[in-house]
Amino acid sequence: MRPAEFSGACMAQRAAREVGMGQSIWESMEKKGYSRRQFLQFCTAAAAAAGFAKSGVAQVVSAFEKKEKPAVLWMHFQECTCCSESFIRASHPIVADALLDVLSLNYSETLMAASGFQAEKSLSDTIKNNKGKYIVLVEGAVPTKDGGVYCMIGGKTAESILQEVSKDAAAIVAWGSCASNGCVQAAKPNPTHATPIHKLVNKPVINVPGCPPIADVMMAVVTHVLVLGQIPALDNLGRPKEFYGRRVHDTCYRRPNYDAGLFVESWDDENARKGYCLYKMGCKGPVTYNACSVVGWNEGTSSPIRSGHGCIGCSEEGFWDQGPIYSHLATFPGFGIESTADTVGTIVAATTLAGVAAHAVVTNVRKHKVIAEVHAEEEKEQ
Ligand code: SF4
Ligand code: SF4
Ligand code: F3S
Repeated sequence: MRPAEFSGACMAQRAAREVGMGQSIWESMEKKGYSRRQFLQFCTAAAAAAGFAKSGVAQVVSAFEKKEKPAVLWMHFQECTCCSESFIRASHPIVADALLDVLSLNYSETLMAASGFQAEKSLSDTIKNNKGKYIVLVEGAVPTKDGGVYCMIGGKTAESILQEVSKDAAAIVAWGSCASNGCVQAAKPNPTHATPIHKLVNKPVINVPGCPPIADVMMAVVTHVLVLGQIPALDNLGRPKEFYGRRVHDTCYRRPNYDAGLFVESWDDENARKGYCLYKMGCKGPVTYNACSVVGWNEGTSSPIRSGHGCIGCSEEGFWDQGPIYSHLATFPGFGIESTADTVGTIVAATTLAGVAAHAVVTNVRKHKVIAEVHAEEEKEQ
């Protein structure tokens, strides 16, 4: 081999190693000292996170034994970094650790050790050496006003970086409400023209809204893309149907209280202590599509509603501009609510209480009685 060829081959191999090419996920884990048992545990947890039945574990094992370790770029634009915080607190530690370790997380301003030119080189090498194969995860909106000067990294605008990384990406995921719909940066008057990712790239984007999104949902989306190599089924807003197909209200454990017309009337009143419905305190659960009531936070131990606060609709577009958080307003753009609550919802906040009361009295007198009895029983037992 001539020296030039030798050095070219060496450089190519080195670049490949640096960007995690040519190794299967299992090979990569084995090299890092994971045992076969840990690998199988990881596969089981990954299968569960992706929503596979037990029978799907073998499919995951087989895929991870053969599948080349995918390279991942995690971009940060206009955001607060809590989406990253949420992700690294996923309730499957082995999935969280192994995914961060197993995936070639080649660029992440929050989590990578490299900085400056070294970090920029990792970004450009990943794009160059993994064309059509790498995954882009984006946290944050992109400002487009005044040539994009309101968010610049390494002398480049966020918009130009986004175009550069998305051009040859296999999949693009928009983490959180900032990247999915603009969130707080895009709140009126949106001074920087903060824009969600899907409006700027000419490719399908998986939107995972929420401020932040639920860690286990993020994990499931990454695993789905990684294991199946496919984009999960999305709704018309680009959100995975599996997690955004139902309203928070549909599976809320306080729902029987709503149906029975049992509401918290003021913070810390007796009804709050009894766990009544938070609708009158401004809960936006009836118009919010997210999995908080089912998946939950902190290993499924809680959610905003379970800790006594109404849902503020953090996964819905424009939620910052929907008026006071503690009043239930008449409309929430783009989404309808069921006919009974709709009747309530067509009346502005000032008349909400009367509407709710009418709904409760007319339709749920019986349930009210039954649930009130249950609460009375519970109190007696305490
Ligand atoms: Fe932070 Fe919310 Fe934006 Fe995530 S969506 S980066 S939590 S502001
Ligand atoms: Fe739960 Fe809120 Fe619906 Fe009440 S209004 S049942 S607290 S989601
Ligand atoms: Fe957000 Fe409502 Fe869930 S505020 S975290 S969508 S309960």
